[in-house]
Amino acid sequence: MSKYVGILTAGGDSPGLNAAIRGVGKAAQGTYGMQVIGFRDGFRGLMQNRTVRLSGGELSGILTLGGTILGTSRDKPHKMPVGSQTMDMTEVIVDTYNRHSLDALVCLGGGGTQKNAYHLQQHGLNVITLPKTIDNDVAMTDLTFGFDTALGIATEAIDRLHSTAHSHHRIIVVEVMGHNAGWLALGAGIAGGADVILLPEIDYDIGVVAEAINRRRRRGSGFSIVAVSEGAFSVDDRAKYKKARKRLKKAETEEAREKAAAKLAGVQSHLQDKTLHLSRQLEQLTGLVSRVTILGHLQRGGTPSAADRLLATRLGTACAGLINDGVFGVMVAARGNKTEAVPLEDVVGKRKTVPLDHDWIQTARDIGVCLGDG
Ligand code: F6P
Repeated sequence: MSKYVGILTAGGDSPGLNAAIRGVGKAAQGTYGMQVIGFRDGFRGLMQNRTVRLSGGELSGILTLGGTILGTSRDKPHKMPVGSQTMDMTEVIVDTYNRHSLDALVCLGGGGTQKNAYHLQQHGLNVITLPKTIDNDVAMTDLTFGFDTALGIATEAIDRLHSTAHSHHRIIVVEVMGHNAGWLALGAGIAGGADVILLPEIDYDIGVVAEAINRRRRRGSGFSIVAVSEGAFSVDDRAKYKKARKRLKKAETEEAREKAAAKLAGVQSHLQDKTLHLSRQLEQLTGLVSRVTILGHLQRGGTPSAADRLLATRLGTACAGLINDGVFGVMVAARGNKTEAVPLEDVVGKRKTVPLDHDWIQTARDIGVCLGDG
């Protein structure tokens, strides 16, 4: 009897999602004779039973497409906005799964999706996941698909910013995605030849950054490229943020709580523009003109790189093999040239940030890149 498999994509979209859907689908149908359906817009579509046929031509011609043919959302099964309320829709999702007589649900996503999939596994579903995100911050896998494409886009952007920064003798601060992990800024910064790279893992001292730029100027380089992760903090901002949070936590009266909450909101609003503040501070401290480029969602758009297509296809076909073997509750991880089934409980609640002794950090320091930490 053939097995029935559902697939969904959740969280931020990422190049390589369609390659992964195709990899799972083609191997599941062609090699193992399974039936495959897609659910639209992540866990929300699963809750609403909105399906997409994935049984025929739908899997052809999608390998090179960016985004996800299934659509995505950041909705969580147990905390889903429904009308004006936030509700636990787990039971409705379990019902959709049973209505389709699914033998397996494949969830393609980043850290949040691993958590949501684990939640559904604990409610009795046969869940299996693949790791995707341009941030490369999913634990227990060497790589996530999407990262290589975003790395290429961010590197090309830094390459292009060089000639204009050089011509105008300016600083260009380029903001790269990555709220919690600096893989993208560090990788693209090194590959694109940035002079300063600032990461969420290393709080920077603005004086140290300015001095690195002034030093370059004294040596005859009147321009500098600063690659900054969206999640990078200055030492000062981190201290302000921590203090405001502590104050709110400690507030005992209603009045003190209100004041502390307002203070924290002020700090958070300042932090939203921290790349612009960084640029302005550098102008003040160096006397150079500084411009900001925020790469934003450009990094997630367009056709996946060859490396991402290959990785997504490998993980997808391995996933179909695991379903065939009845292995569930796992994420299909990339380990060297192989794939590995890692129990979801070993993945959730962890984030793969850049270790401070990582080879890329040392490489950056060895070529004289300032990481903002003195
Ligand atoms: O999912 C990865 C990511 O691209 C992060 O790098 C970024 O911080 C976030 O998503 C942006 O999310 P959204 O597209 O929902 O604004």
